[in-house]
Amino acid sequence: MFYDRLRVAMIGTGRISDLHAIEYCQNPHAEIVALCDRDTESARSRASAWGVENARIVEDYRTILADPEIDLVEILLPHHLHCSVTLAAIEAGKVVSLQKPMCVDLAEADKVVEAAANARAPVKVFENFIFYPPVMKAKSLVDEGAIGTPLTIRIKSNPGRSQTAWNVPHAADAWRQERSQSGGGPLVFDDGHHKFALAWHFMGNPEEVHAFIGETQRQDGFCFDAPAMVSFRFPGNRMGNLEVVYSPELDIITRHYAQDDRVEITGTKGVMWINCGHGRLGDPPPLALYRDGELRTFHGMETGWEASFVHSTRHFIEALRSGTAPSLTAGEGRQVLRFALAAEESARTGKTVELR
Ligand SMILES: NC(=O)c1ccc[n+]([C@@H]2O[C@H](COP(=O)([O-])OP(=O)(O)OC[C@H]3O[C@@H](n4cnc5c(N)ncnc54)[C@H](O)[C@@H]3O)[C@@H](O)[C@H]2O)c1
Repeated sequence: MFYDRLRVAMIGTGRISDLHAIEYCQNPHAEIVALCDRDTESARSRASAWGVENARIVEDYRTILADPEIDLVEILLPHHLHCSVTLAAIEAGKVVSLQKPMCVDLAEADKVVEAAANARAPVKVFENFIFYPPVMKAKSLVDEGAIGTPLTIRIKSNPGRSQTAWNVPHAADAWRQERSQSGGGPLVFDDGHHKFALAWHFMGNPEEVHAFIGETQRQDGFCFDAPAMVSFRFPGNRMGNLEVVYSPELDIITRHYAQDDRVEITGTKGVMWINCGHGRLGDPPPLALYRDGELRTFHGMETGWEASFVHSTRHFIEALRSGTAPSLTAGEGRQVLRFALAAEESARTGKTVELR
């Protein structure tokens, strides 16, 4: 099927939907025609904020799925709803973009992978960090051999506080504190999906995962699964880790979540640093590369975190128009989910989880 102008419905118009709307509103090959949320006031106010006042406002997602005038559904719901809504959307023949993590466990993920394999329209798991411009530049440099063979990856998630962060409504926090709805902790599982996706993107599938996951309360009582230290081993004696630490008095520069993300990749002949993500500390170069005795810094690329959403969505629209694979495919989404779930399992059991 050739999509000249995709008719898009957002299912879930909560906190993150603002960043999903950007590219659909500016891309000539897409338009938002419906917004669905059980909180119709939220859907209505977003339609107005995005300049799509003529879009239909719908309370029940089944109304969206039954509408033949809708091509693509962007599923932005709490995690425990991902599987059932995605299966229904596939059954209805819609193109699906499903926010990460695709599901809360592998049994659900298997159902989605199977349904996607037999679907009439493409299915994508939405993972934006791999489309963050400094990450895309880093990946192309690594693929060109800039650091030689990558040997280790170190990823750091560092939430703090911020005067400039956006407002996260209580409702968006509430379901994240319920494991039956979130599937895991807010930093290691939910946000961690992005970090496991990065590790997977640069290093491939891990064969062993081990995690210590602690607990810290934010001032407002929200419980963080931090500090945490997750280690992973990849085939070929290559390794990595994810460190998550909440610094309550660390001021983060951001327009989104009060968090800084940093990545260091070490290869046989060079080292690369990606110095920002959700936010940043001061004004470091977004990307730096050391090799052959010289430090090279890279500037002039988009560093706003929203750019990762724009590029992820743009890639999907182009993939739909050219008939190429989305990124992530459902199978790839399952690989990242398996990685994230292994960390949760290791912390629970105190044992290394084998994924060979
Ligand atoms: N890619 C990223 O960086 C990123 C960042 C934040 C959130 N997310 C993901 O986006 C998704 C949504 O997260 P959020 O932070 O926007 O959450 P949120 O709680 O702000 O939004 C969820 C919305 O779903 C609506 N909803 C709940 N049940 C519903 C139902 N049965 N029918 C219709 N609407 C329903 C709620 O009213 C709410 O508006 C999650 O998968 C989350 O992991 C991704």
